Amino acid sequence: MTFTANPRRTRLALAEIAPDLLDRTDAAGFPAVGTAASAPAPVRDVRAWVSEIAELTQPDDVVWCDGSAAEKQRLIDLMVQAGTLTPLDPVKRPNSYLARSHPSDVARVESRTFICSEHEDDAGPTNNWRDPAAMREELDGVFAGSMRGRTMYVVPFSMGPVGGPISQVGVEITDSPYVVVSMHVMTRVSSEVLDLVDRGQQWVPAVHSVGAPLVDEHGERTEDVPWPCNDTKYIVHYPETREIWSYGSGYGGNALLGKKCFALRIASAMARDEGWLAEHMLLIRVTSPEQRRYHLATAFPSACGKTNLAMLRPTVPGWKVETLGDDIVWMRPGPDGTLRAINPEAGFFGVAPGTGVETNPTAIDTLTHDVIFTNVALTDDGDVWWEGLTPEPPEHLIDWQGDDWTPADGAADRPAAHPNSRFTVAAAQCPSIADGWEDPAGVPVDAIVFGGRRASNVPLVAQATSWEHGVFMGATISSERTAAAEGAVGELRRDPFAMLPFCGYNMADHWSHWLRVGAGLGSEKRPKIFQVNWFRKDADGGFVWPGFGENSRVVKWIAEQIDRARGVRTDSGAVTSPVGLLPAPGALDVDGLDLSDDDLADLFDVPTEAWLAEAGLTAEFFDTFGDRVPSALRTQLDRLTDRLG
Ligand code: GTP
Ligand code: SPV
Ligand code: MN
Repeated sequence: MTFTANPRRTRLALAEIAPDLLDRTDAAGFPAVGTAASAPAPVRDVRAWVSEIAELTQPDDVVWCDGSAAEKQRLIDLMVQAGTLTPLDPVKRPNSYLARSHPSDVARVESRTFICSEHEDDAGPTNNWRDPAAMREELDGVFAGSMRGRTMYVVPFSMGPVGGPISQVGVEITDSPYVVVSMHVMTRVSSEVLDLVDRGQQWVPAVHSVGAPLVDEHGERTEDVPWPCNDTKYIVHYPETREIWSYGSGYGGNALLGKKCFALRIASAMARDEGWLAEHMLLIRVTSPEQRRYHLATAFPSACGKTNLAMLRPTVPGWKVETLGDDIVWMRPGPDGTLRAINPEAGFFGVAPGTGVETNPTAIDTLTHDVIFTNVALTDDGDVWWEGLTPEPPEHLIDWQGDDWTPADGAADRPAAHPNSRFTVAAAQCPSIADGWEDPAGVPVDAIVFGGRRASNVPLVAQATSWEHGVFMGATISSERTAAAEGAVGELRRDPFAMLPFCGYNMADHWSHWLRVGAGLGSEKRPKIFQVNWFRKDADGGFVWPGFGENSRVVKWIAEQIDRARGVRTDSGAVTSPVGLLPAPGALDVDGLDLSDDDLADLFDVPTEAWLAEAGLTAEFFDTFGDRVPSALRTQLDRLTDRLG
């Protein structure tokens, strides 16, 4: 039997015409959500699309991928032969490889990331907008013949467990075997996805080319290089038609199109239309000594500690943290009225530098086998190294560009590993992965946490006094830039919801959407909202808070605040401040920490002048969105200013 349309879409259309005739639940009992006003879109024909792209890009051949282990190994062998991958020592690091990218292709390129909505206002002032018709024409020229001499891989993948009620599927076409193998780890690559599509499931087409044809227009062939890419890059999204086109880069979020392009930029636009949320968040399960469970979804900007918190090893006795996800969370109001969350990814693409036995022992244990490392250093005995892996660097290394390196180079500020070097590893091999982490129905979210890198002003932890206040906290996050994208590291920038580079539509509409979703959940079931900052610095420029495993102390307070809201605890855990609820004296467990009273006071200091200045900058920031800023957030800003004043 074949369906001609997505069953869920058909249901939505019916809901508009005859709402009474329909019980608004799908197979898994999830309420049908959505405001899609138009008729269901016809499902694209995958095979016709593949032929069309092959005709445009002119590859030598086309390979349909099935996600099998054999396929992965075949591509790995191919890349070892081509010099793209260096096998690591089979005893020290079994089934693991090192890739060195081209030095010009090491991070996301926000300046070349485009949101091509029909109307510029729908992309908003924080996105690069281009007219979709003009962009399509431009890209037709760019992609013409771009795969000549190469193999084109067709990669059907699912974000979330295949067929799950919160999951979505896509097909990536790519001419990079590195991308295919990475997609195997980071998503569920499977021919089952094509079966779903044949049965009428909507899917997202994603075209990727490294932009380095091996044969020119005269038929002249050139030698391949280990990391082909192009100086000109395009990371293009059409949010209305849910399409992705990426050109010129083979690195990370630029090229693994299931990740930022689909699971955040396109998915956020879908989520806006359909009543759910696609966020740049980690997801953990916290268990208290009393065996009470809490699920936390936490938004931090790139390279600000999501992977660390996702793999937290608590220092507070009796508490347990299990990993569900480290970068992206999809949340949807569930049958029981709670907000249900899944991690749509299947692997971790984590920052290597700073990952060590002291800072993230769980990551170190995850990385013992079957890892692809990109842009880290190679040791003389065939293993990997990066800054922060061990306190002392080895005497000699081959650095991320393939050159000799000694500690003297490090002393001269030439790192052995690129600051945005990364590991790609299956989530399943993480020792702290949560039981049932692949449950398609997700977990109920108890707390939303926002954070960023702030040397001053923002307290270690604060709780929002209402959903609106929490959305205001998320909307006003600023953070110091990291190496995860091109640009000046350390510069303070606004990064609302940690989604600045990832929101596929107008950021102010994202805030309205959050207000709407919260209202729909109701005050009883919706998560509590918090803000944290591990990065406050003292006068000498050192971090005041020890961070890492000690962050469990903050997690514990958050869990206890949830208990208090539910009446499970009756003690008073918080005091008010202009910026939110702060831990009451003694409520934050700092037992055994080497932290003076002055340090503690510094961590929670809310300097009035600096906050008034920040409120002024927030007003300016809001003004850049004009009248699309929800009035509830303007009210929150007025109230903050009043409380400070
Ligand atoms: P993306 O994968 O880029 O989205 O980022 P992420 O948020 O997962 O980044 P990750 O967890 O890999 O962040 C790594 C950086 O944050 C490293 O430099 C860590 O040393 C630093 N970091 C993480 N947790 C802490 C902490 O508690 N305190 C301090 N001072 N640094 C931290
Ligand atoms: C980020 O930059 O937030 C990442 C890495 O998670 S990438 O997938 O390259 O975008
Ligand atoms: Mn990220």
